[in-house]
Amino acid sequence: MGQGTQRVAIVTGGLTGIGLAAAKALADEGHHVAIGSRQADNVHAIEKARALLGKDAHISRLDVASQTSVDAFTTIVRHHFGAPTILVNAAGIYREAFFPEHSDHDWLDQIEINLNGPFRMIRALWGDMVEAKWGRIANVASTAGSVGAAGYAAYCASKAGVIGLSKSVGVEGAPHGINCISVSPTWVETPMMDNAIGRIAKERGISREAARERLTHSNPQGRLVQPSEIANLIGFFCTDASLGLTNVDIQVNAGADW
Ligand SMILES: NC(=O)c1ccc[n+]([C@@H]2O[C@H](COP(=O)([O-])OP(=O)(O)OC[C@H]3O[C@@H](n4cnc5c(N)ncnc54)[C@H](OP(=O)(O)O)[C@@H]3O)[C@@H](O)[C@H]2O)c1
Repeated sequence: MGQGTQRVAIVTGGLTGIGLAAAKALADEGHHVAIGSRQADNVHAIEKARALLGKDAHISRLDVASQTSVDAFTTIVRHHFGAPTILVNAAGIYREAFFPEHSDHDWLDQIEINLNGPFRMIRALWGDMVEAKWGRIANVASTAGSVGAAGYAAYCASKAGVIGLSKSVGVEGAPHGINCISVSPTWVETPMMDNAIGRIAKERGISREAARERLTHSNPQGRLVQPSEIANLIGFFCTDASLGLTNVDIQVNAGADW
């Protein structure tokens, strides 16, 4: 349990991967943590999250692609815990598509969830943070927001957008005590990476284990970054000690460009 001020924290996409690890880091600091997820009726995922976070955690349905859902979720959290002043935007999707067959649907879905989602969440909580004269917003972007790769146009564009969004929020929030950063990991061992491993294995006709080895050895540190590494950084950012930390993209890349 941390010694700092207890606050209300929202983590989008907080039932799995980086979001769940960030939720745990914030719960360990003693904050009231509210998780928003499209899987809020998945009993197994909820049990797993509660085992990690404790009984205080609030979990309810959120689809960041829907303004109605964002409004409903943030209203429920305010009634349950009070005004949120910490926001971690971890919800995201990733689909590979090459230009000849790149559908509007794949493009729009990634922009809608990865970029428009954080925008909607920030706008919904802006008033709470201005009122409190204190806020911390951590947007999970990606190294893919700073480099390009064939087949990842929509994902890269959405994450580059998140980096730009975060910097603007950092500047606009500064007079109000609201700090905003993006955190950009390389590959992290989560369900999203697991899906990528399945795809790589299928494309190359190799086993999942061999595909995992490829990703591991493609990293200069020869390892896969863990969700807790991203969560620890976010945990520090959400303290008073991070007073001047804003308007910046922080990569956790273990030496990798991508
Ligand atoms: N793993 C990596 O290698 C890696 C690297 C760089 C950046 N990232 C970023 O890190 C973030 C977390 O990803 P992860 O790796 O932890 O993968 P993950 O376990 O798949 O987490 C993504 C989460 O987003 C949620 N989500 C997706 N669409 C949503 C929507 N419309 N509304 C609300 N929640 C939604 C998913 O839950 P539901 O589908 O149930 O809603 C899921 O819990 C993502 O933004 C991702 O782009 C990941």
